[in-house]
Amino acid sequence: MTDETVLAERRGPVSLLTLNRPEKLNAMSLEMKEALIRALRTADADPAVRAIVLTGAGDKSFVAGADIAEFSGRTGIDQWRMYERGTLYDAVERLETPAIAMINGYCFGGGLELAMACDIRIASDRATLGQTEINIGIVPGGGASQRLPRLVGLGTAMKLTLTGERIDAAEAQRIGLVDEVVPHARLERRAFDIADRIASKSALAVRLAKAAIRASARLPLDQGLRYEQSLFALAMSSEDKEEGVAAFLEKREAKWKDR
Ligand code: COA
Repeated sequence: MTDETVLAERRGPVSLLTLNRPEKLNAMSLEMKEALIRALRTADADPAVRAIVLTGAGDKSFVAGADIAEFSGRTGIDQWRMYERGTLYDAVERLETPAIAMINGYCFGGGLELAMACDIRIASDRATLGQTEINIGIVPGGGASQRLPRLVGLGTAMKLTLTGERIDAAEAQRIGLVDEVVPHARLERRAFDIADRIASKSALAVRLAKAAIRASARLPLDQGLRYEQSLFALAMSSEDKEEGVAAFLEKREAKWKDR
């Protein structure tokens, strides 16, 4: 399927979504964000899709932020109405399917916010990252003030956001902003290795595990632990639990039913 600004490709159980505006370093226009929301919903609703990989077209950029050209003339009321319709970042946050950001180059502003809304971030050794809104006189509006400190701590989030500095992939990994850095030529293979490995598990167990870990960002510890116990109890009553345990004891591969 091709929607000018977002390319959607199925590779076995993995949906690869590519932001496709390389001449503008994949800066996200409103049209592109809407197209990506639609593509994400389609992928998430398809039971055959067991993981989603998000990346940018071309060899230089993941996403160089929101389209800055669209900011001129936009009013506060315009912006408020956009938020009321729901954002791309909300859409990524709500995915039940695990989402991997395959960061293949520039990853700035809204691009970094998009990557942070995903579940796992794998970066090319050529990637450069930054929460750079301050450089154009604005502040992050796609979740960075909340997700960045949760990933890297308050001080580092402050430093990145208030200075607008760009960091390389190695530094991003050191501070916990990305989970792995791989040589550029191996980026796609590594991202798909991870996606395929997730896809080989019980989709039900994957979704429960994702829901529990996601809850850690919004629940106090005691409630989060209780929520984990509820999901563990739910997993206990699944057909895949019986199958997984039997397969282990019989020393064979499990055949998941995803229920
Ligand atoms: N919005 C709109 N257009 C953008 C853009 C953005 N966020 N980022 C890059 N572009 C456009 C440039 O205007 C340029 O368009 P043009 O060829 O029509 O002039 C094209 O993409 C290539 O960018 P260019 O700046 O020439 O490439 P570069 O390799 O020299 O620099 C960046 C790359 C990413 C460092 C630089 O483009 C940049 O700083 N972009 C803004 C990043 C940012 O701060 N984003 C968050 C904003 S909230």
